[in-house]
Amino acid sequence: MALWSSSSSTSSPKGIVITVPALVLAASVAAIFFFFLLSSLSSSCSCSGRDAGGAPASATGGDVSVTRAGDGGGTHFSVSEGGGESIWSSKEDVEWVKDQIRVNGLHMQDNVLRKGINPRTRAEQLQDLLQFKGISHYEGPESENHTALPCPGELLTEEHHSNYGEPWAGGRDVFEFLAQSTHLKPESHVLEIGCGTLRVGLHFIRYLNAGHFHCLERDELSLMAAFRYELPSQGLLHKRPLIVKGDNMDFSRFGSEVVYDLIYASAVFLHMPDKLVWVGLERLTNKLKPFDGRIFVSHNIKFCSRLGGDECAKRLKSLGLEYIGKHTHDSLLFNHYEIWFEFRRSKG
Ligand SMILES: C[S@@+](CC[C@H](N)C(=O)[O-])C[C@H]1O[C@@H](n2cnc3c(N)ncnc32)[C@H](O)[C@@H]1O
Repeated sequence: MALWSSSSSTSSPKGIVITVPALVLAASVAAIFFFFLLSSLSSSCSCSGRDAGGAPASATGGDVSVTRAGDGGGTHFSVSEGGGESIWSSKEDVEWVKDQIRVNGLHMQDNVLRKGINPRTRAEQLQDLLQFKGISHYEGPESENHTALPCPGELLTEEHHSNYGEPWAGGRDVFEFLAQSTHLKPESHVLEIGCGTLRVGLHFIRYLNAGHFHCLERDELSLMAAFRYELPSQGLLHKRPLIVKGDNMDFSRFGSEVVYDLIYASAVFLHMPDKLVWVGLERLTNKLKPFDGRIFVSHNIKFCSRLGGDECAKRLKSLGLEYIGKHTHDSLLFNHYEIWFEFRRSKG
């Protein structure tokens, strides 16, 4: 029986007739199919953090797989970088900067007085600022007419960068770990409990869409540092983070509509009474995106372990939460790792 009929035909041994035009058509369809298959495979490959031209992978958008710098095992992380900012320092990035140091013949030097460079401690810099007010400045009534956001000298000299014992740079490590763990996207919603002077929060604010970073913080000096120095000096006022002063885990000012992709407490729960931590968790469970949303707590979860036995798991379950596991994350710049505990909602 002939499947197709035509003036020019080819007969198969079993009597099926396939015409030449039909063969040409079938071959064309197959070629087009394979072309699209190959191009879709090549566009979804796991590439390094840079595109072929050496530009950050984020420039092309979409998911990329990046090898974490200093990661001996060469583990690849799949991260979404739709916001135009490259989150990770890849192995290639680290090699690049090492190369720059090498080709310029750079070594650490004593930071002493030298041509055009006058090293000062923060205290000395503050004293200079109060006494001499900088090289060019306005006098008399004019001194108050030219500065839109006058900032206290203590903040200008960044005393608050030394408030938490650890280097300020560690804030970036926290951001990178949490962003990676939650597949952060610019449209994600994030709540930090106890954001302090925005050591970590600044990185989230820069990456997230405007208004998508929320924080509850009790310390007034830290909040002043955040509003009067960090946000303006980093050019992040337009990101309109919602930062609220409070110390009793009251999240009502954040609204009832928002559902968070990530809620985190970096070096905070260990400073709070256990009872208050549990009050907070109870109030936050329904504000966490079901299943995909994550709560991350750093350092330890003694508020849990102190309950003894399996009481913690039971209490979490009664709130609709479950503990997922413990993680560590190496710092990029100093010999240090953070410890993180991950939780999610156990029911929708
Ligand atoms: C060690 S600092 C960490 C700051 C920031 N999370 C970071 O990693 O840079 C702890 C912060 O938690 C804040 N904090 C402590 N108890 C709090 C509470 N009950 N409510 C809100 N913030 C609190 C402190 O004021 C402080 O800013």
